[in-house]
Amino acid sequence: MGMEQLEDIEIQLLLEGLYRYYGFDFRNYALASLKRRILNMVQAEGLKSVSGLQEKILHDPECLERFLFNLSVNVTTMFRDPEFFLAFRTKVVPILRTYPFIRIWHAGCSTGEEVYSMAILLKEEGLYHRSRLYATDINETVLRQAKTGIFSLKLMQEYTHNYIKAGGKSSFSKYYTAAYGNAIFSSELKENIVFSLHNLVTDNSFNEFHVIFCRNVLIYFNKLLQNRVHTLLYESLIRLGILGLGRQESIKFTAYEKNYEKLEGGDKLYRKIS
Ligand SMILES: C[S@@+](CC[C@H](N)C(=O)[O-])C[C@H]1O[C@@H](n2cnc3c(N)ncnc32)[C@H](O)[C@@H]1O
Repeated sequence: MGMEQLEDIEIQLLLEGLYRYYGFDFRNYALASLKRRILNMVQAEGLKSVSGLQEKILHDPECLERFLFNLSVNVTTMFRDPEFFLAFRTKVVPILRTYPFIRIWHAGCSTGEEVYSMAILLKEEGLYHRSRLYATDINETVLRQAKTGIFSLKLMQEYTHNYIKAGGKSSFSKYYTAAYGNAIFSSELKENIVFSLHNLVTDNSFNEFHVIFCRNVLIYFNKLLQNRVHTLLYESLIRLGILGLGRQESIKFTAYEKNYEKLEGGDKLYRKIS
């Protein structure tokens, strides 16, 4: 067995430890990029092996924070975690139908795949014309890309697959035009989207929303910061509004645990109740 295989085993053990001890689940992350980041961190911490890093992370919460920060990435996909979007379609859309106007905030939208997915979903449910989607991020570069609505054509196979699993009602390819290796999404999808810079850590609330998605953002923050951002999200939601979190995130163990209830049949979808 070579060095590389040993490293892979050590990485698996580290990820298992992280999950079992802290509840952070990176076990299904793409190994190549994860591995690169982990090996960089072994060096940066002055350690000899991934096992050394495992020991440090499990015993030193500050090292855990650095680890999470290093893993902070802009990675996103359309209809990410399709079952989440399916649950949104079946459980939340009926609630949204009861509102004359719908405001949705995508906090930490990265390059925009999430908000375009929402635009498609709302179009198919006949709700887009009375919705306004606010897509914000701290990072200007990703926002600039989000505004273009252009993604690599190579990704379309995966996104089509996600779209179908998420309950897509049409043919995914009708939403984009292929040109020079790119998928250019229909500008109709952008009509009711507002892209804007917003820092969750330092900026205040700017509206009241019926739905807020803050997915795969808080995972990179420490507890203190998570609670601070949860205050902002809580204050920005209307009563009975819906909060959507990422797969490795939960409202449990936050200061707002009691203010939300889990939406039945909707993993990672929470309703503000008090
Ligand atoms: C992994 S992406 C998540 C994208 C999308 N929500 C998803 O789930 O696929 C995390 C994003 O959070 C953004 N972010 C990190 N810190 C932030 C902050 N303080 N305020 C706003 N956005 C932040 C990053 O720039 C990045 O684009």
